[in-house]
Amino acid sequence: DHTNADTLRTPIVAVLGHVDHGKTSLLDTIRGSAVSEGEAGAITQHIGATDIPLDTISEMAGELIDPSDFDLPGLLFIDTPGHHSFSTLRARGGALADIAVLVVDVNDGFQPQTEEAIDILRRTGTPFVVAANKVDTTPGWNPQDGQPIQRSLEAQSERAESMLNENLYEIIGQLSDAGFSADLYWRVQDFQKNIGVVPLSALTGEGVPDLLTVLMGLSQRFMKEEMAIDVQGAGEGTVLEVKDERGFGATIDTVVYDGVIRNGDTIVVGGQNEPIVTEVRALLRPRALEEIRTEKKFEKVAEIGAAAGVKIAAPELDQAMAGAPVRVVRDRPLEDVIAEVKAEL
Ligand code: GTP
Ligand code: MG
Repeated sequence: DHTNADTLRTPIVAVLGHVDHGKTSLLDTIRGSAVSEGEAGAITQHIGATDIPLDTISEMAGELIDPSDFDLPGLLFIDTPGHHSFSTLRARGGALADIAVLVVDVNDGFQPQTEEAIDILRRTGTPFVVAANKVDTTPGWNPQDGQPIQRSLEAQSERAESMLNENLYEIIGQLSDAGFSADLYWRVQDFQKNIGVVPLSALTGEGVPDLLTVLMGLSQRFMKEEMAIDVQGAGEGTVLEVKDERGFGATIDTVVYDGVIRNGDTIVVGGQNEPIVTEVRALLRPRALEEIRTEKKFEKVAEIGAAAGVKIAAPELDQAMAGAPVRVVRDRPLEDVIAEVKAEL
């Protein structure tokens, strides 16, 4: 239903951090609990982008969230790789993000790509929270699957809790060395001045309700105005990856952050030599998990509105560039849109 001119779009959340600190596991847990709750249909998984609707978030966050406090539709998570050679992908994720989760292994603390991610977030001015992951590896830990972190802490021995605290304060100190005043999230009064640290485990899910609650709260409080978009407007997005897809040729995995893209639209895409002007042949969204295993991978949709991940099939995309802008022309002069795309490269 696209009757309102201005509607609130889904905030884009980039998940950043050092290799193996648990970014993908964290997203798997967020997706996984949803799937096991029979919500597979409501969740769209994209290459690199996962849309989690408010219903699902509220179910996972349980007692911590009252869904009637929120009018944002959910959160769109973008996974990024932590390996050192993928710095452009991290920078791209950071630039797209409205908000970010910096994942830090609670035992390893800050590592080179943690520092790199912090630099990206500082440069782009992206608000973020820190997920202090793998709390379950604390010696003597008594796992409390899927529970809010306070509940879980109540179940720990004094010794386990103090070992965890030591690691957490190490991370808080490292954040401070990086120029950010930080504290455990339940002690933070003003999330615009202080970085909240959320202890959690992607493996057991404890603390994940807290992370989702903090992210929704931050988005709702500080970004609501930026989320108001014209859902009928000409679509704008960023290319995450250029990929060959059987039957479609070169396609672009795109995050749409404004307006709407429709099948048949003329689009301008940043290319290796010059902007590519082409026409959308198909908008493809991955099917639910089960179907991917058994049959066709994608479902064609007629249109896609922000914020969302989508694979765009169109002629001439083999020269498209990861990180480049995508713009729907709609009723604007083509030359203006081409100039806009050039200016962003
Ligand atoms: P890159 O994408 O390569 O940067 O790694 P990543 O940050 O996505 O890490 P990934 O989620 O792949 O996890 C790396 C390893 O850590 C895997 O073996 C996970 O099972 C393990 N792991 C992740 N989170 C947790 C956790 O909370 N507890 C424990 N015990 N292991 C975890
Ligand atoms: Mg990963």
